[in-house]
Amino acid sequence: MRADLLAGTRHPPMPVRSGQPTILVLDSGIGGLTVLREVACARPDAALVYAADDAAFPYGDWAEEPLIARVGDVVERLVGRVRPDLVVIACNTISTLVLPALRARVPLPIVGTVPAIKPAAELSRSGRVSVLATPGTVARDYTRGLVEAFAGGCTVDLVGSTRLAAMAEAELAGEPVSDEEIAREIAPCFREGDGDEGGHRTDVVVLACTHYPLLVERMRRLAPWPVRWIDPAPAVARRVETILGAASAGTAPPRHRAVFTGAGPVSSRMREALAGFGLTEIETGACPLGRSH
Ligand code: DGL
Repeated sequence: MRADLLAGTRHPPMPVRSGQPTILVLDSGIGGLTVLREVACARPDAALVYAADDAAFPYGDWAEEPLIARVGDVVERLVGRVRPDLVVIACNTISTLVLPALRARVPLPIVGTVPAIKPAAELSRSGRVSVLATPGTVARDYTRGLVEAFAGGCTVDLVGSTRLAAMAEAELAGEPVSDEEIAREIAPCFREGDGDEGGHRTDVVVLACTHYPLLVERMRRLAPWPVRWIDPAPAVARRVETILGAASAGTAPPRHRAVFTGAGPVSSRMREALAGFGLTEIETGACPLGRSH
């Protein structure tokens, strides 16, 4: 198996500073907040900087080479400004693509978020698992490598959604998305074996885009039958804790902030939502890099 298949399990290339750490968490939009909240629980003493590369949203549509270059530029620039102890790539679409190149450019521990195919295969009783992700993630060699390495005994259906990430963005911004729209996007995850009376039907769905856990309660309600929904965020947070160690007691309460690469205004509904994740300081236009894909 390729060593890089276990994204986020590499040892840190540099020792981290002791004391109150700063952690940079990056996604294309607000999906990575589902990872940030778990990281905040694992290391309540850490100062978190949440970076949304919204100028480039959605990453799921980008061709691979320009996306590798884009993410490298954004992370390098943010690392120069924020000086974090560790970077969390809270996005499957880029973690399945850019980690080797990013680790070569940025001399810090980098924890990725990749589709939780191994735990899904272990959990499935029917032997049929769906991976719900962006079109980019389902197309990756990396994702196919995970299926081959860890889900040999299962039928794995890779389901790419072009719309769910934007729906999660809309919901968090207070623009409601209908049940029908969500049901349509998740429907291809629910598969039954031909003529075997339902014995071989999907019983686990991997949420392989960090935006999707924001909609999971709706998905649960709209599912044609009950399944286990797997969110990789707790595993990412455990990995962060392994690298940085346990939280130090008695430190001053950390300040968290959100940084948007786009210059667009942040609506008051979005500000409220961000405050719910502890992000009260908000900066926009942080990384005015061109969009070329
Ligand atoms: N949240 C990202 C992920 O985990 C992707 C959303 C996008 O397409 O930008 O894959």
